Amino acid sequence: MTKANSRESEYPIDPMFLDRWSPRAFTGEIIEEAQLLTLLDAAHWAPSSANMQPWRFLYALKGSEHWEEFVSLLNEANQEWAKNASALIFVVSRSFNGARSEGRSSYTHSFDAGTAWGHLAMQARISGFHAHGMGGIKHDEIKEKLEVPDGYRVEAGIAIGRIADKSILSERNREREFPSQRKPLSEVAFNGHFIGND
Ligand SMILES: Cc1cc2nc3c(=O)[nH]c(=O)nc-3n(C[C@H](O)[C@H](O)[C@H](O)COP(=O)(O)O)c2cc1C
Repeated sequence: MTKANSRESEYPIDPMFLDRWSPRAFTGEIIEEAQLLTLLDAAHWAPSSANMQPWRFLYALKGSEHWEEFVSLLNEANQEWAKNASALIFVVSRSFNGARSEGRSSYTHSFDAGTAWGHLAMQARISGFHAHGMGGIKHDEIKEKLEVPDGYRVEAGIAIGRIADKSILSERNREREFPSQRKPLSEVAFNGHFIGND
């Protein structure tokens, strides 16, 4: 119905949703902190349960003092390509509501942080960047080395950059450098009760 970026939706969605994808080939150019903060600003306008805003973003810009440490906190397979990003972010979420002493756990902190990542990814495209989420990160080391307090969950990493030609990638990554497709909507959207059990 909407066609863009070698993808086609089933219903008339805005092309920006098809245009967002996760490349691994980045130019490695230096970007200004204000450019990254523009993306994080969009992220933190995400909705959250009771407006608790449980997301926290730890970031490093390529060329800054924290860059090498952030790269080292990715799994090796992600380091290989993400070292050419312009910025790296670790998304952390606060898993409790109110004061720490109240001990009220949050049910939705990860869901809310994921919403913020979605905002960031869309703003990245609008700003001429691509954002690539990463679950392959060293969660325990991130917590320890970046001094994440107890009660905060390390959710995921994000690489931000301007897209480069895929010829810079290893053969394995070059072969999978294309916008992926999606399951039929009917496999994931149910009018009423849950369908399927796979
Ligand atoms: C939370 C999350 C974790 C991901 N982890 C990795 C990762 O560790 N390494 C990687 O190369 N891609 C990773 N990806 C990228 C996904 O594989 C990609 O988003 C998915 O295949 C859909 O493709 P698209 O984003 O190009 O539409 C991750 C994406 C998300 C949202």
